[in-house]
Amino acid sequence: MNTEVKAKYLKDYKKPAYAIESVDLLFELFEEETLVTNTMQIKKIDASVNDLTLDAVNLELLELSLNALKLQESRYIIEEEHLTVLNVPDAFELKIKNKIYPQDNTELEGLYKSGDIFCTQNEPEGFRSITPFLDRPDIMSLFTTTIFADKKKYPVLLSNGNKIKCHDDFNERHGVTWQDPHPKPSYLFALVAGNLGSISDEFTTIQGNKVALNIYCDLGNEQKCHHAMHSLKASMKWDEEKYGRAYDLDIYNIVAVDSFNMGAMENKGLNIFNSAYVLADTDTATDANFMGIESVIAHEYFHNWTGNRITCRDWFQLTLKEGLTVFRDQCFSADMNSVQVQRIEDVKALRERQFVEDASPTRHPIQPESYISMNNFYTATVYEKGAEVIRMVYTLLGEKNYRQAMDLYFKTFDGQAVTTNDFLWAMHQCGDFDLELFKRWYKQSGTPRLHVKDSFENGTYSIVLTQKVPDDVDGKKQKPYYYPLKMGLLDRDGNEILAETLIISKESETFVFDNLKEKPVLSINRDFSAPIIVEQEENNYAFLMKYDTNSFTQYEATQNFALRTINEIIESSAINNDFVDAYGHLLDLDVDLSYKALLLELPSVSAIMQLQKEIDFDVIYDAQDQLLLHIAQKYKEKLLDIYKQNHLPASGSLAAKHIAKRAIKNRALKILSILKNSEVAELAQKQYEESLTMTDRIVALDVLENLHVSYAEVALQDFYNRYKDETLVMNKYFAILASSSRYDVLERVEKLQRDKVYDEKVPNLVRSLVGSFARNHKHFHAKDGSGYKFLADKIIEIDKINPQIASGLCGAFKVCDKMNKHNQELIKKELSRVISTQGLSKNSFEIIDKILK
Ligand code: BES
Ligand code: ZN
Repeated sequence: MNTEVKAKYLKDYKKPAYAIESVDLLFELFEEETLVTNTMQIKKIDASVNDLTLDAVNLELLELSLNALKLQESRYIIEEEHLTVLNVPDAFELKIKNKIYPQDNTELEGLYKSGDIFCTQNEPEGFRSITPFLDRPDIMSLFTTTIFADKKKYPVLLSNGNKIKCHDDFNERHGVTWQDPHPKPSYLFALVAGNLGSISDEFTTIQGNKVALNIYCDLGNEQKCHHAMHSLKASMKWDEEKYGRAYDLDIYNIVAVDSFNMGAMENKGLNIFNSAYVLADTDTATDANFMGIESVIAHEYFHNWTGNRITCRDWFQLTLKEGLTVFRDQCFSADMNSVQVQRIEDVKALRERQFVEDASPTRHPIQPESYISMNNFYTATVYEKGAEVIRMVYTLLGEKNYRQAMDLYFKTFDGQAVTTNDFLWAMHQCGDFDLELFKRWYKQSGTPRLHVKDSFENGTYSIVLTQKVPDDVDGKKQKPYYYPLKMGLLDRDGNEILAETLIISKESETFVFDNLKEKPVLSINRDFSAPIIVEQEENNYAFLMKYDTNSFTQYEATQNFALRTINEIIESSAINNDFVDAYGHLLDLDVDLSYKALLLELPSVSAIMQLQKEIDFDVIYDAQDQLLLHIAQKYKEKLLDIYKQNHLPASGSLAAKHIAKRAIKNRALKILSILKNSEVAELAQKQYEESLTMTDRIVALDVLENLHVSYAEVALQDFYNRYKDETLVMNKYFAILASSSRYDVLERVEKLQRDKVYDEKVPNLVRSLVGSFARNHKHFHAKDGSGYKFLADKIIEIDKINPQIASGLCGAFKVCDKMNKHNQELIKKELSRVISTQGLSKNSFEIIDKILK
């Protein structure tokens, strides 16, 4: 494949020459093959064009007719990725019958089987492997779908829209016809057939329409769908209240499947979900899992307006729907739970994934200019940085104007396939900001830095802010950004003097504040109002940890102070007692316990690594452990106290108060575990044995495993026996073992691949075993190169099964050019081996090629 890879460019966009007004699909599902009959009503838009070229992958054509006349072979051309019909009239019906093999489809794109369930995944370009089509999002058509299958094996037959007909008189086979009244692009088409269990409910929209809600799953899992159903109803209500958007069909179906490349997919009226984002009960799911389900259910629901009703003109516009919808789901989760905790969690995720990507050779603007495989662009940048960009628009406009702007966006573009410029136009109609400068967020890449220098003289406090904009990947200079910067000033007693939103628009600018008695303390980028890195010459971290009124910057001060302390340990082995004292102060804070659990968390390895010029993970782990050990020793009694106060009485409740108690006591347990003494081991053992929730059980198991105590083996065996039939719980089991600090972790990972519950064709299992190992920096980056060799071998193997999952694993090598020379050499050797593999997918090729260049 790697010799014929071709990039697509945004600048090459051309309007479609044809419209496909309606599509009538007939699916005949059999055990060995599926027959697809596709009847399209097509109209020529561009009269100068003669031929019609449809996207079609590996087409096995059975019949082709135009206006009911069979076409001679001389009238069409079949290529590897296209079907061209020559000399077509201005308006016509095209009927295509072809054969596909969902049973053999391990790429999980198009129509495939997850266990015994037929299902589809068509975003971005899966539809073309089902049937020939103009498979691009600006082609919107009316879909009618008829499915025939064995009645016993596939009693449930689903597609988009409303069920308009049942075909029941065919002995052991039956059929159903679905019709979707809303025109849509092919990537939103979905089909499901299986023997499924389900739960049902109902939602009445603000206009009084009754909507039937169904969640389908494997038989026996019905009781685990209630939290998802609850989340769906909450999302529907929230979108009505906050955006004035109601649902627009009489039925909303969600299907949970075990084999899915991503988290979930927003197909019109028929969402298909990775079962990890649907199924949950307290015995098998953690508190974090419950929250994850709530947010993914909401995300896919919100796409109905931001994505489906208004869709993308082309895939370069992906952030139009994803950035916006992530912003919407973040706000929803904040409203459902805690605004302050949500903001910190979102920024943490952004820094851990997106900042790393934005500093790597795979960095790209939220609106990329080119791609080889579109599947590689469902990135933290397009999603999470994209959401931050929408959040900046929201901050610039304010709540009221933002709502007006969104109303205008929906009113103007409903039913269309549009661009990010169209979105920004609507925002700009209702707000006062520099549109052209702001657009740089869409076209430039890399995390911008802001240098802060402040001074005080004669009652005047000045801050000089200087933007440092990283060069593009190809070395091209980029320009300064436009953004809102929330800040506050505190007096020396910790009282807030002022809170403002500055507008940053130039490379360097000075802001002055008069009539002050003494030099104030600056709290900057409050709420993380812009996705930047702040560089401060002078800082008051300890002060802000104590007094900042903004929960985000209080958290930020803690993280920054900890990072600086860890850096000092790396450089001089000395531990800064000011930090340790300030940390002690946090332990006594009387604040929301979920928030406190975050405050007490020390920076991750990923955060520390981003400050290193030349990464050496051994050094990072050592320094991190030293600080943790010091804190655990000094505050042992306080931490034990926090643990004990919040541990009992045990509760399986999912009320915020109980989730918070579990969060803080598990944070205390994890910190204490660095002491590696029998007291902690006993606490963990007792917690494991008496746990009422998966949250407590999994933390205890993780702590035990990393204490390297003999009881760990007993607990792991017990856990395995108890949950071996629950694939979602087995994901957690594999993840714990692959993330372990034990010296022989790679050997164990290799052995676990032969475990009977492991299956390389199921993405969740690959991610939790192989993916977790690739994030286990200590062992993945082992100096003998064994971790790299293992992952390279896996990539080659999995690439043949599922290129999208393989190229995801390639991401672990993104840090290559930041590593020390020794590791760099080892990585390059392995990647060169992978990239020269015969038949490597364009997905893996694109990522590795960028890293090697
Ligand atoms: N549209 C995507 C799903 C998708 C992505 C399908 C890439 C095919 C290729 C969906 O809306 C989505 O964004 N899902 C996320 C979860 C979400 C909560 C951010 C996912 O699957 O990770
Ligand atoms: Zn999405």
